[in-house]
Amino acid sequence: MWESSLLEIMAINKGYLTADRSSAGDEVYTPFYAVEPLMEFLPKDKIIWCPFDEEWSAFYRYFRENHYPVIRSSLSNAQDFFRYEPEKWDILVSNPPFSKKDDVLKRAFSFGKPFALLLPVNSIQGKARFKIFNNDIQMLVFDSRIDYHTPENMEITIKGNSFGSAYFCRDLLPTKLELRQLEKYDRPLERGDENGSNQ
Ligand SMILES: C[S@@+](CC[C@H](N)C(=O)[O-])C[C@H]1O[C@@H](n2cnc3c(N)ncnc32)[C@H](O)[C@@H]1O
Repeated sequence: MWESSLLEIMAINKGYLTADRSSAGDEVYTPFYAVEPLMEFLPKDKIIWCPFDEEWSAFYRYFRENHYPVIRSSLSNAQDFFRYEPEKWDILVSNPPFSKKDDVLKRAFSFGKPFALLLPVNSIQGKARFKIFNNDIQMLVFDSRIDYHTPENMEITIKGNSFGSAYFCRDLLPTKLELRQLEKYDRPLERGDENGSNQ
């Protein structure tokens, strides 16, 4: 049990650390407690688009439960983020595939709309991203690390993550840097209703 958890942690960390070359770390899912801190900054009269999310994703479910107008899209509905855009949306919010983070950021900026993307905190540094950010980036940073779910760990997150995460935002936070405390709790991600409405 302990050994298999360790192997999973290593696989995730390896995926994230080598993510520029591999998509091994892409299938990790955000816990509910990491979505909550965004509430402070998201207006309730704007349409949120979650482009990497299923019905059961914490982002989509949490926003719906809290009466935010939210739409989602995902590869399983043949909605590739790099080709697909909903007709009407205002704010892009999600945890994107880290292996494609530069391209995701480029496309996010290309829309010219607010966004919040959850990425490893050290993504702030890098020559290519420096150009993409163009000094037009805000960060929501936490006092502790977010742990993630994986397809095999939908009940509880895998503890002991080796990297910190932050929301990289544009035109959403009141300042360039906001610091908040995470209040962690376990809430399972419940697959099911995967063929339900995506609006
Ligand atoms: C890090 S996971 C996060 C999923 C979800 N947003 C969450 O936070 O639980 C990123 C997801 O994006 C999906 N993905 C990869 N490339 C994509 C693309 N081009 N368009 C849409 N989704 C993609 C991956 O399969 C993966 O499920």
